[in-house]
Amino acid sequence: MSIVFHNDPFTPFDRHETPLNDSPGFVPGNRRSIAIPDGLFPTAVDAVRLRVGARPLDVAQWVSAVDDDWAPTIAMKRALIAERPHEVIACIEGAEEACEEVAAGVLASIGANPSMELGIDALVDAALQVADDLCILLPDEDGVPRLAAAVLCSPNRWRLAEKIDGTMASIHSPVARYEEDLNSPVNSVMMRLSPERPMWRINWGISNHPALFQPDTPPMTPEMDAADMWFRVEWQTLRRLPITGGILFTIRTYVEKLSDFMERDQPLVQDIAELVNKIHEDVAVYKSIAPYREKLFAYFETR
Ligand code: HEM
Repeated sequence: MSIVFHNDPFTPFDRHETPLNDSPGFVPGNRRSIAIPDGLFPTAVDAVRLRVGARPLDVAQWVSAVDDDWAPTIAMKRALIAERPHEVIACIEGAEEACEEVAAGVLASIGANPSMELGIDALVDAALQVADDLCILLPDEDGVPRLAAAVLCSPNRWRLAEKIDGTMASIHSPVARYEEDLNSPVNSVMMRLSPERPMWRINWGISNHPALFQPDTPPMTPEMDAADMWFRVEWQTLRRLPITGGILFTIRTYVEKLSDFMERDQPLVQDIAELVNKIHEDVAVYKSIAPYREKLFAYFETR
């Protein structure tokens, strides 16, 4: 069995010293596996083309539901913010009011006291009370939404410093088929967003490393057992901010070990086998799944 230790130099921040569950995937020094909530998995239909797949969200829900992973995730965020603030916090000039608007909304939604901080410090305050990452988009002078502020501790292979002030098109430059499949649907979802109708969607991947804070793509490990790999799902929300007119984009990341995922209902595992088998090669490469594809398919087929 191959083991990827959590303290690899590229992702030192995924500290879980106390095993919080008895998952069969748990190995000391390794991130424990947290069950991805039912209903947040992609389906084989997603193999045909990349989709936004935005669905309506309850207006009162600003962040993910509290679970066993909230406290360790918040501890990780606290450590990252203290030790590597420039990698996880960013704010362009003019985004201060939107940070305060988001902090007020997020904190009220979880029944917490309002922040006494201003600007980006208010956003940090709110981010430290939830497991979700908080990103704010504001329209530029041409009305094009740009990433204006964020507290981002669970990046899936991207760096905040490289994306801040970017447009949707520039931010998504590494995404295969973005121009063909996604550019216009992404823009239209964002234009249609209204304060009364927030939306949620998912991003998914299968990774050889469980760290939540994963700014870089870890080295490929094609020899790795499929059972030791990780299903990574981001539950994302999109919400129009009524006062500043910006957009709040939240990301909550779940990481479940494949050996645990294999215990799930057989039709779900089969569906994911089909998805992995059918995604276009350029998408498999962009998602860093290509070297593991056959192995993953064979493994899922054993269920
Ligand atoms: C500040 C905001 C955003 C940032 C920084 C961001 C960043 C990224 C990155 C780094 C990826 C590639 C890695 C991955 O799949 O996780 C990605 C993929 C994607 N993003 Fe975003 N994103 C943002 C907002 C949005 C919004 C608002 C939408 C939709 C309305 C969206 C839709 C997508 C889609 C559809 C993919 C491809 C998913 C796939 O591979 O199946 N993103 N995004």
